[in-house]
Amino acid sequence: MATFLIKGGRLLEGEIEVRGSKNAALPLLAASLLFDKNPEIKNVPQIEDIFRMKELVLGVKESEKIDTEIAKKIRASILLVGPTLARFGRAVFPHPGGCVIGARPIDVFLSGWQAMGAEYAYSGKTAHGTDIHSLKAPNGLSGCDFTFRALSVTGTEGLMMTAVLAKGKTILRNAALEPEVARLAEFLNKNGAKISGAGTTTVIIEGRGVELLRAGGGAFCIPPDRIEAGTLAILGALAAKKLVIRNFPGEELVALLAVLKDVGVEYEITPPNPPVFFPSLALERPRSWIGRAVNIKTKEYPGFPTDLQAPFAVLATQASGASMIHETIFEGRLNYMEDLNKMGARIILCDPHRAIVNGPTVLHARTLESPDIRAGLALIMAALIAEGESQIGNIYQVDRGYEKIDERLRAIGADIKRI
Ligand code: EPZ
Repeated sequence: MATFLIKGGRLLEGEIEVRGSKNAALPLLAASLLFDKNPEIKNVPQIEDIFRMKELVLGVKESEKIDTEIAKKIRASILLVGPTLARFGRAVFPHPGGCVIGARPIDVFLSGWQAMGAEYAYSGKTAHGTDIHSLKAPNGLSGCDFTFRALSVTGTEGLMMTAVLAKGKTILRNAALEPEVARLAEFLNKNGAKISGAGTTTVIIEGRGVELLRAGGGAFCIPPDRIEAGTLAILGALAAKKLVIRNFPGEELVALLAVLKDVGVEYEITPPNPPVFFPSLALERPRSWIGRAVNIKTKEYPGFPTDLQAPFAVLATQASGASMIHETIFEGRLNYMEDLNKMGARIILCDPHRAIVNGPTVLHARTLESPDIRAGLALIMAALIAEGESQIGNIYQVDRGYEKIDERLRAIGADIKRI
């Protein structure tokens, strides 16, 4: 397992460019199963989850099966199920894996597919104890009027994709508003699908039956990753002498920017100026750390993103006062705080959803393991401001979501080595 050696205390300086969005690219790769041949997609981040998804898509195309061993590594494998079911009339798949941040149920997906006429059967466990599910729709799928019991990003994406190959119209109500949903609809519409309302609470899909989409709309460019951009902005607030973040999708990060302002971080946004199509953000850490404590509550888009909760907690350890963090989306997403406390943070875990971070605290280097993508990067950020040399293990988790992160951080002055 790869490990990062990180020496803290260096101030960061220079420019860093945000890569293509992981959570926009993953559904597009899964949606390629809806096509007669692979559509061209550009600016795809070179990260582990993308490599796994490509392997899964190839496997489905060759054997009409979803590979259990790979699929249980990423949550996004659930996105393959709808297109596989719609295209081949059946899908057998493992309970999706990915970040251990909660139970990660799939009930919303299963009720959506059953509403389209699929029959579900639980097919037991693998030798390693992974649940196997199977769906079949020998007579194809039919459009339906479906309301999500709970807001689900991949649930909205997965049922939207499935509906493209169903017969007749599908209405998805209480749909997720994340930008990745609208990007997926744009991509599919560019290639012949008929989807309206993506990005609002009600999405309407005119199904085409099993006639595959034709990849003819030209290349689709993946937008910058709003979570990576927000993470880098928080890192800048913690440790930058002067950091410029290029391809910064500021309008998708309004909740974070409001919080940074409240904490006392000064930043400047330069608007896009063709041929540069995205703004850039320049910021530096406050001189005398006057960071004010701020309470945050994670919410579905456009609220404060749950994927920025761990990076924010590191910032809160440096703010003066008590910051309340309320994680409303996942029930297992505060566990990494024990590791921050080992580094010297003073965080009180109130319940599985709420914690109080007291600051400012000096953090000390430790040897730790990355628990998941976002908390893994949060530990790296903590190590970058801690006194001494830290070792952060299980770096595969970080490489799942951030492209060549050690090289890119070294380029802006961080003392980080991959061993
Ligand atoms: C997506 O996960 C993202 N992943 C996550 O990012 C992100 O944290 C999450 O949305 C919330 O924004 C991808 O897009 C690949 P959900 P997803 O379904 O779709 C419950 C990262 O680090 N739920 O919106 O799996 C669920 O338990 C990852 O990039 C059900 O109850 O999240 C959760 O409490 C981590 N039943 C809530 O809904 C279901 O069938 C939101 O989950 C599905 C979900």
